[in-house]
Amino acid sequence: MAKNTRSVNFTLNGQKRSFETRPDEKLLTLLRREGYRGTKYGCGQGTCGACTVLVDGRATYACLLYAMQAEGREVRTIESAGTFDDPSEFQKQLVAAGAVQCGYCIPGMVMSATALMETETVLEDEIVKEYMDGNLCRCTGYEKIWVALRKTLDKRAAEGGKPAKKTAKGARK
Ligand code: FES
Ligand code: FES
Repeated sequence: MAKNTRSVNFTLNGQKRSFETRPDEKLLTLLRREGYRGTKYGCGQGTCGACTVLVDGRATYACLLYAMQAEGREVRTIESAGTFDDPSEFQKQLVAAGAVQCGYCIPGMVMSATALMETETVLEDEIVKEYMDGNLCRCTGYEKIWVALRKTLDKRAAEGGKPAKKTAKGARK
């Protein structure tokens, strides 16, 4: 990188990492240039949710956060959520429901749903909507995404899945 850079250190998908960044670089730009391209650039203005990552467990627009603001924090991207060969339950349900069209919104959806499932103990529709309403989809009309998420949550509840502690931290504000 050019002059006027400095180091930023944070945990990325479970590993302590150090990157060179400029003071004006956004976290989204840093992640993508470092190869974490599952995190998408959509509006760049904090409205579409395509860039959603988790920062200390909270769903966060990576296009709005300066990379330097990640110093000392825990960042998770879609690359931590599942793989092609070992998808998460929500990713499986999205495929089963035919909820993925262009797919551009899906990484952000998955990360917001992750924040939801790791934070809330009561997964009623209103709470679910609070977590997901920062994620836009231009293709699907939302219905199939909703079906996939609801099935994921209901399956988790039926299996006695462990929602995390209620921290009131995970929803994007
Ligand atoms: Fe960040 Fe749209 S690219 S909210
Ligand atoms: Fe295309 Fe959601 S599937 S934007």
